[in-house]
Amino acid sequence: MNRATLRQILDLARWAPSGDNTQTWRFEIDGDAHVVIHGFDTRDHCVYDIDGHPSQISIGALLETIRIAASGHGLSVTSERRPSDEARPVFDIWLKSDPGIVPSPLIPYITTRTVQRRALSTRALSAEQKSALEASVGSDYSIRWVEGWRGRWDAARLMFASAKIRLTMPEAYAVHKSIIEWNARFSTDRIPDQAVGLDPLTTRVMHWVMQDWRRVEFFNRYLGGTLAPRLQLDVLPALACAAHFVIAARRTPTGIDDYVAAGSAVQRFWLTAAQLGLLLQPEMTPLIFSLYARDDRKFSVREDLLDCARQVRADLARLIGDASLETAVYMGRVGSGATPTSRSTRIDLETLLKH
Ligand SMILES: Cc1cc2nc3c(=O)[nH]c(=O)nc-3n(C[C@H](O)[C@H](O)[C@H](O)COP(=O)(O)O)c2cc1C
Repeated sequence: MNRATLRQILDLARWAPSGDNTQTWRFEIDGDAHVVIHGFDTRDHCVYDIDGHPSQISIGALLETIRIAASGHGLSVTSERRPSDEARPVFDIWLKSDPGIVPSPLIPYITTRTVQRRALSTRALSAEQKSALEASVGSDYSIRWVEGWRGRWDAARLMFASAKIRLTMPEAYAVHKSIIEWNARFSTDRIPDQAVGLDPLTTRVMHWVMQDWRRVEFFNRYLGGTLAPRLQLDVLPALACAAHFVIAARRTPTGIDDYVAAGSAVQRFWLTAAQLGLLLQPEMTPLIFSLYARDDRKFSVREDLLDCARQVRADLARLIGDASLETAVYMGRVGSGATPTSRSTRIDLETLLKH
């Protein structure tokens, strides 16, 4: 093992998914067998990053991808979080030659796995596909499936309600404005507009509207502005998939270590889906808003939105049951379909490496 091997591992691992492609990590190579991951979260400016938990899930996905990539070099990985500020978590990663390690069959999918926000096939998942996905998360997690015409319809209604909050909240507007790269097919540090899932005309209208919050308010109030994006971004994708899934932990997640561990399971699930030829889109906003509602936490200057969040929570509880909602760490939709022609790419390794 040497530094070149560590670079190859990190070069693959940087393809791990992160919320809004924020890539909440920087790397430091410290010797031939030691890497330091400098994580961060975006809770101070991103309303979706509730308590930093989505960022922690992303970091967990990164750590899992390091393990999977390292297996290709016959290396085992141990990782430990330093007792530091949780908003800027630091992880020591030690790699060791291990003759017992076999290369993970998921390695080829690290770079091809990508989010698909457009319509997927409604063909039901086979029993084999479901059991491979259920096995992928390990014994600390279970999968709750929402399927069939009725299930997808209920999920679409849930996404429609959740999208109203997303599209009428000034705090979310600020996030969307900063994370969409306009007129782009690929984006190294954001989401290209062509991967968002809107048709070209609506994309152009949204680009114009989103220049200014007053335009958004006017559009929403007088022109039914949330309808077209809600139909295209939420309702149709929710109907056009094989199933929605919720990854639930065996016990209620409480802190950073639980969310980092959940991120490992999420990445195994997503890579396994890719291995099975399935595409996936996370649907995290209903979960996030229902956490704000659970704790009666004001998350917007628009106080009426807390009531909308309570409604989302009630609908989600009806859909997946109180027990799964209590322990849910991730939610999304899955199905077969076309590989997206537009996607987020990544910040290059040199930039991610702290010197
Ligand atoms: C914790 C987390 C939450 C996410 N939430 C959403 C979501 O609610 N909706 C969505 O369309 N994509 C969501 N994503 C997908 C990211 O936007 C995507 O992974 C990132 O932009 C990188 O793109 P790629 O996965 O195609 O490489 C989420 C990803 C992670 C890791």
